[in-house]
Amino acid sequence: MRPIDEDTITQAVIASHASAGDARLREVMTSLVQHLHAFAREVRLTEDEWAAGIRFLTETGQTCRDGRQEFVLLSDTLGLSMLVTALNHRKPRGCTEATVPGRFHVEGAPRVEPGSDIARGARGEPCFVRGRVKALDGTPVAGAEIEVWQADTDGLYDVQYPTCGAPHVHRARAVLTSGADGGFHFRSIVPAPHPIPHDGPVGRMLQALGRSPWRPAHLHFTVTAPGYERLVTHVFRAGDRYLDSDAVFGVRASLVADWVRHDAGPTPEGGTSDEPFYTLDFDFVLNKA
Ligand code: BEZ
Repeated sequence: MRPIDEDTITQAVIASHASAGDARLREVMTSLVQHLHAFAREVRLTEDEWAAGIRFLTETGQTCRDGRQEFVLLSDTLGLSMLVTALNHRKPRGCTEATVPGRFHVEGAPRVEPGSDIARGARGEPCFVRGRVKALDGTPVAGAEIEVWQADTDGLYDVQYPTCGAPHVHRARAVLTSGADGGFHFRSIVPAPHPIPHDGPVGRMLQALGRSPWRPAHLHFTVTAPGYERLVTHVFRAGDRYLDSDAVFGVRASLVADWVRHDAGPTPEGGTSDEPFYTLDFDFVLNKA
């Protein structure tokens, strides 16, 4: 019989992986066991703490349902999601940086013509967004598919409103196509900061750690074009009070932009607004696939 004790148990577990058919699985599980055991040794994990950890993970699983993935929220708030994104989307300097998609993307957003009002009744101050999709050398990327989604002035996404059994109505989300010069433009609303869902175990973890559940105001984008790496990113509002404490560590300086306020009057789309409005200019620089 193998002598297994506090000092040899890590090696014993690793040795038990020897006949795993999948070499990558063996590599990942071996590293996981090494780090997990090192963590328990480093903090001298007590039995009560181990049991509390198991309870926490159990509740995390029990909180998952359609539209609520508490494990991904845990990964987001531990910085793991953004770390995995960074490791898998290293790009040349000058390309738009990637972020996590967040929890409120839904399939089937409406395809709209350039200049459309994508708010479709979502509440908020008017905002005209325009930009270009380009390659790193400045070549315009025509025909890129740009998907955008955002929260409204109350910090809520359309999917967070009860539908009372009616079919979901897409608000403040749409899919557009860049023009021959790589340009795109649309009308929407100014997004508000919002907390991540924090009524479950992850919210309790944040509270116990004295952390905020809030995210700074942002727009989500994906940009897809043949021959280029698909971009998933955010544009954050300059001056937002949560830029330095984003609950999911998604903010990058290159993704912070000014929403410029204008008095009532002529709008960039050639119309007239009888209330003050905002403009946002942001270009996306894609990495070659
Ligand atoms: C969001 O961007 O809305 C979001 C991101 C991560 C977790 C929850 C929400």
